[in-house]
Amino acid sequence: MVHNDTSQRKVLICMNQRQQATSQTDIMKFPGKNSIEREYLAWREFKLNLPVTLQTVKLQKHGTLTDDEKQNILHQASLHNMAVFSVWSADGFTADHLKALGQQLGLQKPDNNLYADENDISEIRVIDRGRRGEYIPYTNRAMGWHTDGYYNSADKTIRAFILYCQQDAATGGTNQLLDPELAYIHIYDHNPDYIDALMQPDTLTIPATIENGRLIRPEQKSPVFSIEPDTGMLHMRYTRRKTYIQWKEDRLTRDALALLRDLLDNDSDSILNIRLNPGEGLISNNVLHNRSAFSDSEKKKRVMFRARYHDRLPTWLIDADRQMETPHAEPQ
Ligand SMILES: [Fe+2]
Repeated sequence: MVHNDTSQRKVLICMNQRQQATSQTDIMKFPGKNSIEREYLAWREFKLNLPVTLQTVKLQKHGTLTDDEKQNILHQASLHNMAVFSVWSADGFTADHLKALGQQLGLQKPDNNLYADENDISEIRVIDRGRRGEYIPYTNRAMGWHTDGYYNSADKTIRAFILYCQQDAATGGTNQLLDPELAYIHIYDHNPDYIDALMQPDTLTIPATIENGRLIRPEQKSPVFSIEPDTGMLHMRYTRRKTYIQWKEDRLTRDALALLRDLLDNDSDSILNIRLNPGEGLISNNVLHNRSAFSDSEKKKRVMFRARYHDRLPTWLIDADRQMETPHAEPQ
């Protein structure tokens, strides 16, 4: 397999500083590889050997994180790009508390979308009437794989979100989650040229929204994978939906997308299944996710709080000694 300079550069910069230490052991493990490839292989091995589980971080007080709780969340996020938390009691936990949680975790740039409240938090529940009821999140229907804000302009890129369950449904409402870094590795393993295809700035096009002859939202073009210039971290935009989007029409893009769909549709070992209970939440660097259909009952009507952010969780702020505790599963 030939690695051209461009793809090597791309894999190098997508690596987090936590995984960049190329040790003497790595050099022995991967003889004949240049330093960029060694670093990529070391990072790949690190990621693939992580246990595919999330340890729930228990929070002791509404709206105030202890330093330990904050470090635990950031540590989990540094490994998986996501973390699960549970509050000590679902009673009394409000959107204000969720907002405070985001702030204390270093998320400084909340996204203010049409249906968010004054705290920039959206309450997601089944809405039967009005404009919101036309959007799948506000129905009980299944939602396909996506990253949040895949239709946003570059200046409104969603890099993190928090999803908190105030009330679960009577049945259903499970989320599947996939760390985009694992999707990247999977695709790169098959063909590095696929990564190049998915990094083209015009891979994904969201057509302009025009209503009654008025331009509501201009056309958006974006790559699927990109490297954040500020942090050097990988960012992903994706949607599994088939309508109102256009994919670049060339063979490499088509094949790369088919591989990604295959990964998502076939219950890969890398995919996490999570059904949040009342008082539990997910914090993530906008990982790939979907939602199964659900049914509400009179007593159990699903309500989720969702906050979105333009910045990522500052995982580079975790204590150095905590990085040493990183658990490794047995290689498979
Ligand atoms: Fe979403």
